[in-house]
Amino acid sequence: MNSTQNIVVLTGAGMSAESGVPTFRGVDGLWEGHHIEEVASPEGFARNPALVHRFYNLRRAALKCVEPNAGHRALAMLESEWTGGFLLVTQNVDDLHERAGSRKLLHMHGELRKVRCEACYAVAVWENDLDAGTVCPACGETGAMRPHIVWFGEIPFEMETIAAALKSADLFLCIGTSGLVYPAAGFAQRVSNECRLIELNIESTEISRHFHEHIVGAVSAELPKLVESILRAR
Ligand code: OAD
Repeated sequence: MNSTQNIVVLTGAGMSAESGVPTFRGVDGLWEGHHIEEVASPEGFARNPALVHRFYNLRRAALKCVEPNAGHRALAMLESEWTGGFLLVTQNVDDLHERAGSRKLLHMHGELRKVRCEACYAVAVWENDLDAGTVCPACGETGAMRPHIVWFGEIPFEMETIAAALKSADLFLCIGTSGLVYPAAGFAQRVSNECRLIELNIESTEISRHFHEHIVGAVSAELPKLVESILRAR
C-alpha cells in the first residue's frame, strides 16, 4: 500500500458497541424503548421536549460509565503514526474516540456532550442535565437549549470538509455502520476510482457491495490487526 497518502475512516454505532453503548437498530425496531422519530426528530422535540431532554440526559449521563475499547485506541494510534492525510468521521455522538486520543475527528451527527441555543446558536460543552427551563449561558434566553445532535431531517455537520477528504482519499475504512442512514451511507460512492475501500462489520450490510475488502468480525478484535497491517505496509 505504498501509494496510500490519505486515509478517511467512517465509524458507526458498532464502533462503540463493545464499550457498552447500544446500537440503534434493535430487533424490536425500537431505540432504548422509543421509536427513533419520537426522540430523534425536530417534530418529536416540538411535540414532547421533556421526553427528548430526558432521553438525551440519560444517554449523556451513561457516557460516564463507558470506556473506549481496543478499536478506538487502534484508530487513535493510526492517526498519530500516519504521516499522510488522515480524517476520522464518526456518526457516533459519544466521546469515546476523543477519549482514546483521536484529534483529527469530525462528529457529523453531533455530540452528546454539547448543547446549543436555538435563539443565539451558541454551542456549549454540557456535562449535566438539560430541560425546558435551562437558561442559555451565552444569551440568557430560557427554554431555547437543545442537544447538539443532528436529528432526522437535519443536515449533518462538516459536510464540505468531509466531501473534500473523500475526494482525495486513497484508503476509505468503514467501521461498524449499517449503511442505512444517508449521507454517510453514500460515502463509499464518493471516493475516486483509485481509492481502496475496506468495510469492517460483524455482518454484511446494505452497502457491502461497494467495498473491495470485507473484514467480518468485531472492532475490538479486528481493528487493531487492520491498523497494524496498514502501518506495516507503509
Ligand atoms: P446501526 O445501529 O444502524 O448499525 C450498527 C452496525 O454496527 C451494524 O451494521 C452492526 O452489524 C455493526 N456492529 C455491531 N457491533 C459491532 C462490533 N462489535 N464490531 C463491528 N460491527 C458491529 O448504527 P449506525 O450505522 O451508526 O443517526 O447508524 C447510523 C445513524 O442512524 C446513527 O448515527 C444515528 C442513527 O439514526 C442519528 O442519530 C442522526
